[in-house]
Amino acid sequence: MRILILGGSWFVGRAVVADAIGRGWEVTLFNRGRSAGAPEGPLHVRGDWERAADLARLAAHGPWDVVVDVAGAVPAVVRNVARALASAAERYVFMSTISVYRDWPYQPVDESSPLWDGDPDLDPGTRRWDPDAYGPLKVGCELAIRREFGDRALFIRPHVILGPGEYVGRLPWWLNRISRGGHVLAPAPPGRAIQPVDVRDVARFTLDMIATNATGPFNVAAPIGRDTFGGLLHACREVTGSTAEFVWADEAWLAQQGVREWTEIPLWRTLPTAWAMNTDKARQAGLTCRSLQETAAATWHWLQGGGVPVAHERFAEHGISVEREAELVAACL
Ligand SMILES: NC(=O)c1ccc[n+]([C@@H]2O[C@H](COP(=O)([O-])OP(=O)(O)OC[C@H]3O[C@@H](n4cnc5c(N)ncnc54)[C@H](OP(=O)(O)O)[C@@H]3O)[C@@H](O)[C@H]2O)c1
Repeated sequence: MRILILGGSWFVGRAVVADAIGRGWEVTLFNRGRSAGAPEGPLHVRGDWERAADLARLAAHGPWDVVVDVAGAVPAVVRNVARALASAAERYVFMSTISVYRDWPYQPVDESSPLWDGDPDLDPGTRRWDPDAYGPLKVGCELAIRREFGDRALFIRPHVILGPGEYVGRLPWWLNRISRGGHVLAPAPPGRAIQPVDVRDVARFTLDMIATNATGPFNVAAPIGRDTFGGLLHACREVTGSTAEFVWADEAWLAQQGVREWTEIPLWRTLPTAWAMNTDKARQAGLTCRSLQETAAATWHWLQGGGVPVAHERFAEHGISVEREAELVAACL
């Protein structure tokens, strides 16, 4: 299998590259070479996917059986990439997201759920992270790929991804906080279902689907109801060897205090439908998801080994300040 991976050095891409190398596939990487995380071994073509000349130079390194676009997020840019590679690659695989679904997190979603309106030619003119624009932009990217590759396209739509290399700042925040010990503010109930997926399982499933010539969209997440918020925090306590005590605070009370879901308390979402992504299609195709315990252990191991997340604007959004947490904990005790 000759595979071209666009990106490959931050988080999801790194896991995809590692898995592809492990399968003995012939890997070409394309990125600007700014980040140090790309594994050794593959042919590394340096360039910027926003520059037509770089894309033309890249295409000349083909052909490939498949191109995996891990981090594309701007429809007009993805369109240009897909056009430049249309005759150099048989198939196009795109790392999409649960955010393409218009009704998420307010309704359960499966692959037939309605998507946001997307424009395959849109360039919003900024590369800044915008949570409201993210879903529609990813839909635009999917549409651009469909236009160039038709049904030779595979769309992986993961829910929240955790694991070694995570730069969004969710699991690293919990691990670091819990490792410091003391009273840790936790959003009740501990039995709240969650369904993040390990980055290595996303990578494995993506490559398995490539190997079987699968096309179309696949939702990717842990099984609904298997994991809980309490399970995640206990896993963090166990793998960090911490003696932290969780102070479970009523969710309505936390909301009254103005505590922000999702970011200030990472991964906390009160809507049960936020964690109701149907993944039957992927599971029937072979998706398996390791335990949260394994994800927490590997991420802690990575952090302890000097792993540093790629600097990203989203990282700073996550986590509650020490002072504010102490105030809220004091009010609960
Ligand atoms: N995190 C989550 O919970 C979550 C959930 C659902 C879906 N997703 C999706 O998962 C994907 C995460 O991707 P990732 O960031 O981890 O991918 P990645 O492939 O590991 O990293 C991004 C890569 O893009 C390269 N790059 C950035 N701008 C470039 C440019 N202009 N030209 C060429 N290369 C460029 C970077 O290298 P250089 O800087 O060296 O160029 C880096 O290798 C995204 O598509 C996201 O939408 C994430």
